[in-house]
Amino acid sequence: MLQVEVLTLFPGVFASPLQESLLRRAQEKGLLCVRVRNLRDWAEGRHRIADDVPYGGGAGMVLKPEPIFQALESLRATGDPLRVILLTPQGERFTQETARRLAAETRRIVLLCGRYEGIDERVRLGAVDEEISIGDYVLAGGELAALVVIEAMARLLPGALGAEASAREDSFWEGLLDYPHYTRPAMFRGMEVPEVLLSGHHEQIRRWRRKEALRRTRARRPDLLARAPLSPEDRELLREIEQET
Ligand code: ADE
Repeated sequence: MLQVEVLTLFPGVFASPLQESLLRRAQEKGLLCVRVRNLRDWAEGRHRIADDVPYGGGAGMVLKPEPIFQALESLRATGDPLRVILLTPQGERFTQETARRLAAETRRIVLLCGRYEGIDERVRLGAVDEEISIGDYVLAGGELAALVVIEAMARLLPGALGAEASAREDSFWEGLLDYPHYTRPAMFRGMEVPEVLLSGHHEQIRRWRRKEALRRTRARRPDLLARAPLSPEDRELLREIEQET
């Protein structure tokens, strides 16, 4: 079971995403355990303040180090060892490869959600093992990024997806964009479903899907195509695509 501990000042953000769809099922099946903790619970004083003004002045607030260190110490006191991950736009870019690595963790994954303008640098230096960014844009805090990381890991846990969906996760499709999907009706507002999909020819359908995945990747993400592991059949399909365009 993958264990995730979330440390945040806004635990409410996590309530409904964790109770829906895949994340709900993964937890019900005992594949995933997510505990969401409020950092304020470890803040000192009557007002339980977890942030403060920055030394040197300037706008915004900075997360204080003490509540975070306290929280990590109390988590460490019981249970499996921790892998502490800070969500920040300054982190290493999150990819499917990162999701695979983290989904295989035996340590408890702590997702520390930065907020406001920043987090005291000593947290980085003394408590964080790894920093992750989900992309080159700035969110108000790490909460939504933590949910992205949780969902990407959860769907990789064995048993989390149905057989059909897990097959599309396998190494054969790795590094390519998905092929086009269709469902009923066969004709919709003048747009037809490709004939081959109605044919029942499994081999032809497989080849068509592979070709369309290659076509789409070539058109939209040539950078991915350049790095994807390609079979001799893939090269043949790509030659066909080149001749068609
Ligand atoms: N916090 C704010 N922006 C973020 C991002 N892009 N990735 C991870 N954490 C963040």
